Amino acid sequence: MSTRPRTPAPATPAPGKLPLPELLEMKRRGDKVVMITAYDAPAARIADEAGVELILVGDTAAMVMLGHESTVPVTLDEMIFLTRAVTRAARRPLVIGDLPFGTYEVSDEQAVTSAIRMVKEGGADVVKLEGAGRMVDRVRAIAGSNIGVMAHIGLTPQSATKLGGFKAQGRSADAAKRLYEDALTLQEAGAFAIVLEAVPAAVAAHVTAALAVPTIGIGAGGGTDGQVLVWHDMLGMYAGRTPRFVKRYAEVAEEIGDAVARYAHEVKSGEFPEERHTYAISAEELAAFEEAIR
Ligand code: KIV
Repeated sequence: MSTRPRTPAPATPAPGKLPLPELLEMKRRGDKVVMITAYDAPAARIADEAGVELILVGDTAAMVMLGHESTVPVTLDEMIFLTRAVTRAARRPLVIGDLPFGTYEVSDEQAVTSAIRMVKEGGADVVKLEGAGRMVDRVRAIAGSNIGVMAHIGLTPQSATKLGGFKAQGRSADAAKRLYEDALTLQEAGAFAIVLEAVPAAVAAHVTAALAVPTIGIGAGGGTDGQVLVWHDMLGMYAGRTPRFVKRYAEVAEEIGDAVARYAHEVKSGEFPEERHTYAISAEELAAFEEAIR
């Protein structure tokens, strides 16, 4: 029998946490990066086993988990609580803790303090924040504190009101050029990757070609280095409006709804529980018990 170590199949990932620099290598090789959101341990385990590289504990949690109308109300404490659940279960994927609205805009110090909490208390590997302009300094400050930071431009839901609603961005030559320049500036400030949300595919492809760091698209076409979808959107678990860029891979809410309705029906009718769902007691012990309570 050969004692040579077996060569792993090419698709088998190396054990342990995905090293952050591997994302740059993936971009160089043209390997697409798969990112998905998750907000609890079971979802993180499923994502890990499915082979995704990046799990974002997104502030979309405000809407899909906590029932808010927008991402604005979620707090850093709430995001840390959810991130902790995800990091307990995600072994291979890098976990990105989203910094919620109001936790990094005020100053570089506020941004670094929030990022440190996300890493130290939430167990996140890296963090994400939205915007360019003054947020470029926040990216620089966090990266300068040795915490990996992902940027997010295009449609930035935390500032949807200022953008005039949940609308595609970069659709005029001027707006596309601003987006392109913002991406370059964020890369220069130290962002390890940039999310491009709701941006014309052709613009996203130009931005992607201009950057050394990977772009992760959501509603930005197939020319980005990776894709991200929100867990509840892609699984059909969110009852609210979903954007046109969402592809549904399952209708989980329907399936859960059917199961809960059957359960309710069987409880009312007495069909559940059956004999096999109950514990037995010997006739002798039962008789003694009944004698004792008579
Ligand atoms: O919070 C989130 O889920 C996000 C994704 C939509 C990229 O930012």
